[in-house]
Amino acid sequence: MNTEKRRAVIGGNWKLNGTTGDCLAFARELAEHLPEGPLPEIVLAVPYLLVAEAAEVFRDLPVSVAVQNVSVYEAGAYTGEVSARQAAAAGAQWTLVGHSERRQLFGDTDADVARRVKNALSSALRVMLCVGEPEAVRADGGQDAWVAAQLESALADFDPEELDRLAVAYEPVWAIGTGRNASPADAQAMAAHIRACLTRRFGSAGDQVPVLYGGSVTPENAGALLAGPDVDGALVGGASLKAASFAAILAAAAAP
Ligand code: PGA
Repeated sequence: MNTEKRRAVIGGNWKLNGTTGDCLAFARELAEHLPEGPLPEIVLAVPYLLVAEAAEVFRDLPVSVAVQNVSVYEAGAYTGEVSARQAAAAGAQWTLVGHSERRQLFGDTDADVARRVKNALSSALRVMLCVGEPEAVRADGGQDAWVAAQLESALADFDPEELDRLAVAYEPVWAIGTGRNASPADAQAMAAHIRACLTRRFGSAGDQVPVLYGGSVTPENAGALLAGPDVDGALVGGASLKAASFAAILAAAAAP
């Protein structure tokens, strides 16, 4: 294993929550609660309509703004879509791609995910690629093959030169929003598997891609989940809605 320390990244995902004004309140409270010392990279994925506000209020805080998705299209007659270029112009620096809620509720295919990754990269966004198996797949022991296939498809055309713009979040579908987090051992095992897939695909540079765990991360379980040597951070849904609980997770990530 590469001994160089990988970047730690903590992402928040507000999903379909929050409205104008909430970013300011959150930023003020987060500033009060930010832990001392070196922080992980902090990425907050807000609804599209809050991106400009978030970019403004987080300007003086070490928080990058993300969108939660970008269109498979670059521009044109696609009513209701938001392109990667528009997101970047509004102030987003990152986008989530392939979140399981997009895959399960909105029919995102692996091919769609690959197109979104491509559009994000061509618009200077960084990509937090989400992968993870449904419960039935884990029950059959198929999770490693499932996640490997998701990675292979999403990253088939990924330019190795762009690897410093990639993070991968392992989010088992059965752990998202359920209060049932993966065990720290399972999160570590899958993070190691993802790292092996990335190294197979990209060589040693793949080893530097941050691999995050997501799914019912809370201030209480973050320390144990982040202790795995291959777990470089977390993607946090529900517990990112309150600045104090998000800050407590940042503290867990910053702890030596
Ligand atoms: P959760 O969501 O923390 O509420 O389980 C995680 C996610 O969807 O990224």
